Amino acid sequence: MQISGSIVIVTGAAGGIGTALARRFAAEGARGLLLADLDGGRVEDLAQELDREGCHTVGVASDVTRESDVRALVATAEKHIGPVDLFCSNAGIGSGAGIEAPDAVWQACWDVNVMAHVYAARAVLPGMLKRGRGYLLNTASAAGLLQMPGDAAYTATKHATVGFAEWLAVTYGDRGIKVSALCPQGVRTAMTEDHGVRTVLSAFGELLAPEQVADAVVQGLAEERFLILPHPEVAEHERGRASDRDRWLSGVRRAVSHLDLRLDQPLVQSGVPAGAQVDVQPVIESVIQPLG
Ligand SMILES: NC(=O)c1ccc[n+]([C@@H]2O[C@H](COP(=O)([O-])OP(=O)(O)OC[C@H]3O[C@@H](n4cnc5c(N)ncnc54)[C@H](O)[C@@H]3O)[C@@H](O)[C@H]2O)c1
Repeated sequence: MQISGSIVIVTGAAGGIGTALARRFAAEGARGLLLADLDGGRVEDLAQELDREGCHTVGVASDVTRESDVRALVATAEKHIGPVDLFCSNAGIGSGAGIEAPDAVWQACWDVNVMAHVYAARAVLPGMLKRGRGYLLNTASAAGLLQMPGDAAYTATKHATVGFAEWLAVTYGDRGIKVSALCPQGVRTAMTEDHGVRTVLSAFGELLAPEQVADAVVQGLAEERFLILPHPEVAEHERGRASDRDRWLSGVRRAVSHLDLRLDQPLVQSGVPAGAQVDVQPVIESVIQPLG
């Protein structure tokens, strides 16, 4: 699909990847944007800025874990802008912890990283199916294809994000509905500001700017590809994982052992000394090489 002339909803739009998507969609000539986030102030400021620049944009405070809020997004877009062509279900959270994360944290990850996509599909699909066309972009993560060492709930729920997006593509693909799963590795956003998180991510590949992710999204949507991979090496890692799971697991264990992190302890308090340097290249090679 082309963004030019389209009406788009973006959740998690107050920062990071969501903000970059909104700015890029406006620059591409979207007909209208509805931007949503828990942080209503920031998303309204962004909406006013894009609106002043000529893209009709509405910003609303919204909690995507509440189905009524997600339904209201679609209703608001339809009332103030028009029928939704693309729903970018992008809000997401991590736990920064392993199995010790409290149930409430696991539940929060499930609610944001999985149920919000279910609510988005329930809210927007009836209209799209009636019109015989529409696009759902669900932000998952490379962790949904591989894993995020040090974050069990993020890994498990992002795998569910990808599985649900595949299910949507199979179920509605013949009725004019396109689906993409956006699976970046590390991106420089508020989510990855923690030193332990950034150390793990930078060991597995380059940390991209959110604007580079937005570039990959516009290209992936134009090509209507299911998997949008701003880090192309993720495809190679996924192939390695599928071809020999045990070899892949041992490769990841070896890579993680180079990081000198206690991954059985909360990552966000893992005490990685500020300024600690990880020699990135051998770590990456130790993951890729055993995959042959
Ligand atoms: N940063 C990375 O390295 C990276 C990598 C892969 C995938 N992702 C995914 O990209 C998406 C965007 O993350 P980001 O990196 O831009 O992080 P971010 O923290 O900058 O942005 C996430 C936004 O989601 C909003 N949000 C959280 N819970 C919400 C809720 N219940 N309702 C509405 N909004 C909510 C936050 O307020 C925030 O503005 C997430 O799904 C994340 O999992 C990020």
